[in-house]
Amino acid sequence: MINYKELGLVNSKELFAKAMAGRYAIPAFNFNNLEQMQAIIQACVDTKSPVILQVSAGARKYANQTLLRYLAQGAVEYSKELGFHVPIVLHLDHGSSFELCKSCIEFGFSSVMIDGSHLSYDENVALTRQVVDYAHQHDVTVEGELGVLAGVEDEVSHEHHTYTEPDQVEDFVKKTGVDSLAISIGTSHGANKFKPEQCTRNADGILVPPPLRFDILEEIEKRIPGFPIVLHGASSVPQDLVNTINQYGGALKDAIGIPEEQLRKAAASAVCKINIDSDGRLAMTAGIREHLTLNPADFDPRQYLSPARNLLKDLYKHKIENVLGSVNKA
Ligand code: G3H
Ligand code: 13P
Ligand code: ZN
Repeated sequence: MINYKELGLVNSKELFAKAMAGRYAIPAFNFNNLEQMQAIIQACVDTKSPVILQVSAGARKYANQTLLRYLAQGAVEYSKELGFHVPIVLHLDHGSSFELCKSCIEFGFSSVMIDGSHLSYDENVALTRQVVDYAHQHDVTVEGELGVLAGVEDEVSHEHHTYTEPDQVEDFVKKTGVDSLAISIGTSHGANKFKPEQCTRNADGILVPPPLRFDILEEIEKRIPGFPIVLHGASSVPQDLVNTINQYGGALKDAIGIPEEQLRKAAASAVCKINIDSDGRLAMTAGIREHLTLNPADFDPRQYLSPARNLLKDLYKHKIENVLGSVNKA
């Protein structure tokens, strides 16, 4: 058993309490490799922002759980070396079973998500309660989920949203003892969050997606006042990155995300954690594609990963400073 505190990590409890009081959101960035971790920590040190490093089941398969945990441990030391000790949470994203959550907790994770959103309500409650009972013995925080996001979640794909039912949240939080709750109000995973036919066009002809269901969020806030809410699927899919990818040989079609002003509004509400993965993927891909197209003779990974890492860092800083509001909150 490795306790996350020995690694210099923190759980999400105090970060969420401060975010709730200060009306901002903690960035939750997914990572799978060294360059993503470096970009995240550089951005957070520059902006003095706390951060949640997220590991998905896919990331564990790709990069190995042991290596990712050492990277997170290294991230703590790296942030100090860069001159500022950033509070870092190591979080399991979309945990699918008690066994997986337990394994992560025993392995040094400071926070886990148990995603029982696809189960029946009673099964979701029972599974989440089981994870909470184990996690809290080790002072690890737990995120549960009610409501289903459309789109692809790892190997699970859902055609339609099932919005969170406000009438269920109080009971769920009480019965499970979770520390935060992910909800479904119209976001979805991936870079194709809306079909063009779901959108309208503004005066400049730019596609405008349907607004998030802030009415549902407000109802939820009334039922569980002051309780930390989590927003998944919160990438904004910056069109300049999509255009760069397509200009340099990519073929992304109908890539549409959540408008930033809606995410700003969410961050200023009870939403304390905002999950961003796809935007980072886009930044990395745009940087690599542009560099290799303009410098076709380069073959040293450092030559094309450095500009990609810089783009990624700029993206994270932009999110922290202009969307989440977590600058100077470390
Ligand atoms: O919620 C899903 C995250 O974007 C992780 O995606 O399972 O492909 O690593 P992944
Ligand atoms: P995006 O695909 O919108 O980045 O969402 C990521 C996420 O919710 C990870 O859990
Ligand atoms: Zn998610």
